[in-house]
Amino acid sequence: MEKVKLGVIFGGMSTEHDVSITSGTSVIKNLDKNKYEIYPVYIDKKGNWFVYTKKIEDIDVIEVGEEIKEITKIVNPIEYLQECDVIFPVLHGLYGEDGTIQGMLELINKPYVGCRVLSSSVCMDKVYSKFIFENANIEQADYIYIRKYGEKYIYVDNEFNEKIVDLNEISDIVEEKLGYPVFVKPSNSGSSIGINKAVNKKELSEYIEFAAKFDKKILIEEAIDGREVECAVLGNEDVMASGIGEILSAEDFYTFDAKYKNSASRTVIPADVPKDIVEKIRKTAIKAFKAIDGKGLSRVDFFIENKTNRILLIEVNTMPGFTQISMYPKLWEQEGVKYSELLDKLINLALEDK
Ligand SMILES: Nc1ncnc2c1ncn2[C@@H]1O[C@H](COP(=O)(O)OP(=O)(O)O)[C@@H](O)[C@H]1O
Ligand SMILES: [Mg+2]
Repeated sequence: MEKVKLGVIFGGMSTEHDVSITSGTSVIKNLDKNKYEIYPVYIDKKGNWFVYTKKIEDIDVIEVGEEIKEITKIVNPIEYLQECDVIFPVLHGLYGEDGTIQGMLELINKPYVGCRVLSSSVCMDKVYSKFIFENANIEQADYIYIRKYGEKYIYVDNEFNEKIVDLNEISDIVEEKLGYPVFVKPSNSGSSIGINKAVNKKELSEYIEFAAKFDKKILIEEAIDGREVECAVLGNEDVMASGIGEILSAEDFYTFDAKYKNSASRTVIPADVPKDIVEKIRKTAIKAFKAIDGKGLSRVDFFIENKTNRILLIEVNTMPGFTQISMYPKLWEQEGVKYSELLDKLINLALEDK
């Protein structure tokens, strides 16, 4: 059988560049070399494209922070990608998980793994994904939405009426609608970058200004007191959901350091959660994935609220972490799908959908 020519793209211009290198090299290491002829593509932080020239069989996982060597500039990335049958963009965050690279692949008519343009961009934007999930009647944390406007801000209410406000007025709105503590998030973000938990007015102002450095759109969300759990979904039309895994963060919440640097953070698979709650989460995960018109894969993140057992959707990640110890592949492993089999399934889903 002829090998499938598979482009694997990693790195990228987002704050999750390093994580993507680890995900991408894990994918390459675990692909069946008898089935795939691999075209490894690295994008640096500035957006330059390179071929990773290391001998495919020798490619090992590059850990976060480790430098990538043996790269050669690609003069014409589109021409290079045209040689492939299918592309796996193992890119997280902006310019990778947000519909931009997906748009480029649509333009050159190449099948690719994962969500299409719309679902990718909606899920990258925490404010806009809220609107869709609200429409699907999926419970989420209460929130307010503001936009940076020069030195001031615009408060956008749930009917999209806009009002220019200062930080004092925002804190009044937060106190009236949410109460402390609240999470302050750049709408477009990932890996917890730019996200903080504010417990008072002073912190709220400080964290809003900080979040505004990453994105003009800012989401302020009620803090949920509960257990953080994640569910993996896989499929195009017939979507399957895995069991669930729990995050035991080494810090107050799952910050960048808690995710990638603090080895005291743990994941528990399967999560020790009553069966009926697991079932509800699995169903809601599929519903959320369908609501955003997802394709291929996503990891859907929730909180189970302590006092009420309510299930609240936090976010859908259309290209979740893909290292061997990442939640997404581990959740499928628990279901009996090995990492390399999972890759085959994803690539087949991409080819089927074309
Ligand atoms: N409303 C919330 N209540 C409690 N914790 C939250 C809330 N929102 C986010 N968090 C914590 O912050 C982390 C990052 O937030 P998230 O919205 O998932 O952003 P990112 O896209 O950067 O992962 C979550 O994993 C969780 O630990
Ligand atoms: Mg998250």
